[in-house]
Amino acid sequence: MPWVYINEIGQHEGQDVTLKGWLYNKRSSGKLHFLQVRDGTGILQCVVFKSDVPPEQFDLADHLSQESSLIVTGTVRADARAPLGYEVSVKDLQLVHTAESYPITPKEHGVAFLLDHRHLWLRSSRQHAILTVRSAVIRACRDYFDGKGFTLLDAPIFTPAACEGTTTLFATDYFGETAYLTQSGQLYAEAGALAFGKVYCFGPTFRAEKSKTRRHLTEFWMIEPEVAFMDLAGDMDLAEDFVEYVVQRVRREQRSHLEALERDMTVLERVRKPFPRVTYSEAVELVRQAGFLIQWGDDFGADEETAISKQFDRPVLVHRYPTECKAFYMKADPENPRLALCVDVLAPEGYGEIIGGGQREDDLETLRAKIRAHNLPEESFGWYLDLRRYGSVPHAGFGMGIERVVAWICNLPHVRETVPFPRMLERLRP
Ligand code: 4AD
Ligand code: MG
Repeated sequence: MPWVYINEIGQHEGQDVTLKGWLYNKRSSGKLHFLQVRDGTGILQCVVFKSDVPPEQFDLADHLSQESSLIVTGTVRADARAPLGYEVSVKDLQLVHTAESYPITPKEHGVAFLLDHRHLWLRSSRQHAILTVRSAVIRACRDYFDGKGFTLLDAPIFTPAACEGTTTLFATDYFGETAYLTQSGQLYAEAGALAFGKVYCFGPTFRAEKSKTRRHLTEFWMIEPEVAFMDLAGDMDLAEDFVEYVVQRVRREQRSHLEALERDMTVLERVRKPFPRVTYSEAVELVRQAGFLIQWGDDFGADEETAISKQFDRPVLVHRYPTECKAFYMKADPENPRLALCVDVLAPEGYGEIIGGGQREDDLETLRAKIRAHNLPEESFGWYLDLRRYGSVPHAGFGMGIERVVAWICNLPHVRETVPFPRMLERLRP
């Protein structure tokens, strides 16, 4: 019999097929057993009639434990009541392995317990839906940049210096020298942009975030485009076009998983260009009107970001923050040097910042002064300063955190379910 996957079962109506998977759930009556079999692509009901199989197989079906692995052969039948529209009438049932008593039962479990069992929790239908959406988000991100002529240029993970401030660095011993896990591939992407014009890097990034919030991980994945001869205006256009593409494509491709997660699809449908754009100073006014006490110059926290994004029905671009809120590499606005030529994209529904980026300082002496002013070790940035010595050009880029985008698209309360094995302040295992 041909081995088929459950997500293509509709192509085999009326045929005999073989499925390979695990027992997800089971119901029985005297003459029948209903086996919910999952194979990684879906869950399908397989019906074992007493009269269709040898007695020992009928007995086996009765005693199967949850998550035992199986090979099932039977006939595919259309059934309007079945979730997928099909079920399988079993002719042969083979046991591959009898699972021990499975810790995750269909009853409710606490999050700490589930995270301790993340290696098994991945098998549940909700986690399956979320992580399939994640996979689709990453595919859409790559396709976007690949389709626009960007070259993928991977950044290193061991780095000698900080990109996003020294307070969230993870240090490791690198043969007697201190190396840090990268906070962002940006500085290397800048070297790439001056070599290849348009590049992106995509990889894990690390921040020793000591706070417990619903949107911070210590290890997260970031996609970072960087373009030579692009200014802040071009960067904002790119970010807007990119977010629209990713959301619309994932919305179309992942409808069934998003609906299983009870996502309100109308919110995603509205994610269309143009997105509203406000300056930091205008955003401060919005935050004040929402009742917050905030000084011009303060950075926005999660609550302030929510107050801003609540004013709009789609993502909002907030640009030109005060330079003191932002990293050393930001170019100052020539019209007002207190402002950085930067942009954050805030997602709606309280998800906050999903993108941070901007135009980079391209003047050698200004950048050197910024590195000193931020107390960064100049010797570690010699190579980076070289980019301003040999054919420096205006250039810009941004970074988008995959987990925050997945949390938003799926409408999840916390980023911890958006990555297969989350790393957080109190979570290094499994
Ligand atoms: O705003 P950030 O710090 O920007 C940078 O790292 C720039 N160097 C990127 C660039 O211009 N190439 O981080 C960018 C994004 C945030 O908007 C957010 O989506 C995500 O990375 N992010 C996190 N996601 C999960 N957990 C954390 N601790 C995160 N910190 C940032
Ligand atoms: Mg940021």
